[in-house]
Amino acid sequence: MWAVRDTAIYRISSSKPDEELLACAGKILREGGLVAFPTETVYGLGASALDPVAVRGIFAAKGRPSNNPLIVHVASDEMLRSVVQEWPENAQRLAKAFWPGPLTLVVPAGPNVPPEVTANGPTVAVRWPTHPVALGLIRAAGTPLAAPSANRSTQLSPTRAEHVIDGLDGRIDMVLDGGPTADGIESTVVDATTDPPTLLRPGPINLDQLERAIGPVRLPDAKTAGPLRSPGLLEKHYAPRTPLQLVERDQMSPTEGVARLFRGPAPDSAPATLSLPDDPVGYATGLYAALHELDRLGMSRILVEAPPTTSAWLAIRDRLQRASFGN
Ligand code: TXA
Ligand code: MG
Repeated sequence: MWAVRDTAIYRISSSKPDEELLACAGKILREGGLVAFPTETVYGLGASALDPVAVRGIFAAKGRPSNNPLIVHVASDEMLRSVVQEWPENAQRLAKAFWPGPLTLVVPAGPNVPPEVTANGPTVAVRWPTHPVALGLIRAAGTPLAAPSANRSTQLSPTRAEHVIDGLDGRIDMVLDGGPTADGIESTVVDATTDPPTLLRPGPINLDQLERAIGPVRLPDAKTAGPLRSPGLLEKHYAPRTPLQLVERDQMSPTEGVARLFRGPAPDSAPATLSLPDDPVGYATGLYAALHELDRLGMSRILVEAPPTTSAWLAIRDRLQRASFGN
């Protein structure tokens, strides 16, 4: 069970975060509390990764099934060494190319990592983010932070502090509001224990970029990826409360009670209509905020214009397909 608590919300500069505020948030984390903070991808819900009781608090606050493992966020080589058993060559090459940044690497877990973090598995997912608030908070806490996206399980990821509050107010200790996040979708997750490495979750760093940096990368065999080895197992994920459907543009004429999200400028000015840039990077940045906004309208459906099937749109297609699962 989660305990009711007051959730303190503080604004923080995302370029030059206030050291005193970080120190205060770091202390909460060291004492086993839960602090939501911005990263370059989405907001994370942090707890001390080496404290099993604190980590259980994350699962309780989110209503997350305990068989879904967490990402450990580090901000130094020393922290990285403290959570991994082994650092495969492929992990080193990927880290060299993309860290700090929106890339999570799955590697053999060190003995200090509680089973709550790894869902009892042999591997741990680690990320060295680049957002100054994330880095400052990890350093202030003085310990690696386990942090899933700061939303209730299966719901939309948060790209703004108000999205965090929507889902987690009263369940966590603090939210650091550093404004909207830049990348807008969750980090790319790569399993570096396989050779070639396996892309488990497409994200801001796309397949072409990965392959240009390190050569061939494998795509997972969706159905045989093993129990929650890949995020994909929870097929319904990242979903608004309003049923979402992916359709072609010609099936999106204005309809009473139906919200619409276009790729590129909308063809009319009917209400409950939003549009996102017709490029995958700009689209990703605004995607969750647009879905949160349309969801709040309480319509009977959200129609989303289907993204292209090219590899540059893979991460967006993945999120939208999960959001529309079963609708
Ligand atoms: O951008 C992000 O990655 C954000 C920010 C806060 O860092 N975090 C995030 O966490 O999206 P979460 O928990 O929502 O997603 C982590 C994904 C899950 O789908 C989980 O299954 C996968 O990473 N994962 C974690 N540990 C794993 C492991 N040992 N092996 C395979 N997949 C793992
Ligand atoms: Mg998540």
